[in-house]
Amino acid sequence: MQHFGIIGYPLDHSFSPTIHNTAFEFYNINAEYSKIEIEPDKFEEKIISLKDENWSGFNVTIPHKQHIIPYLDELEPICERIGAVNTVKVENNGKWKGYNTDYTGFIKPIEMETGSLHNCLLIGAGGAAQAVGFGLLEYTPIHKIVVTNRTEINGLHLIEKLKLFKEIEYIFIDPGDIGNMNEKFDLIVNTTSVGMGKLKDKSPVSLNAIWRKETIVYDLIYNPGRTRFLMVAENSCL
Ligand code: ATR
Repeated sequence: MQHFGIIGYPLDHSFSPTIHNTAFEFYNINAEYSKIEIEPDKFEEKIISLKDENWSGFNVTIPHKQHIIPYLDELEPICERIGAVNTVKVENNGKWKGYNTDYTGFIKPIEMETGSLHNCLLIGAGGAAQAVGFGLLEYTPIHKIVVTNRTEINGLHLIEKLKLFKEIEYIFIDPGDIGNMNEKFDLIVNTTSVGMGKLKDKSPVSLNAIWRKETIVYDLIYNPGRTRFLMVAENSCL
């Protein structure tokens, strides 16, 4: 039997075991998928011990998409540019290879609209935000990305990385100042964990002044399916 798992912390919200185990059963694959919760301060110790066990592959989620990189033997080239890995394949020779499917996965649901995306408010500055940023730069005619994040320095670092990929206009704005912006966005994306788990009653920003009827409001959180952020956007459209 092959063993797969999702590495992250916390993982209460994760549907990954249900999704993968259902698929294994459906396709008659002799495999099992489990949760591997790793607290950030135990990361190194736990990853080293996983290397001695019989795993075939992992998904990697918050907050470990960047932490995992130093422990990989090989990286798909786009991961080096994105700086984040969400999938690890254990090769036949035991080497761990990192992939990122977040940036193509992010574009998939909006691929019919990509041609009309010219400006975006990107909420968050972690690994998922990097993947979204690269997806936008690679697949859309975006010419301005406004980043907002709880911690300014992380937002500025994200902008530096995106700039290396493509020179367009980038701005950082404090989340508290969004209400004062005089700009409407084609796309507003939440990449933070604000809206799930203990934060499920919270919205990462106030949408009031920054959207219009055509704005795509996109939340990477899938549990709950309709976050407070999406509900506010939906209600504003009525
Ligand atoms: P991922 O790899 O999935 O993006 P991450 O790298 O841990 O996960 O990034 C999480 C993002 O959610 C960050 O932008 C983080 O903001 P900070 O840079 O300030 O840490 C944001 N985030 C997490 N918890 C948050 C909270 N309670 N309020 C606001 N932002 C939060």
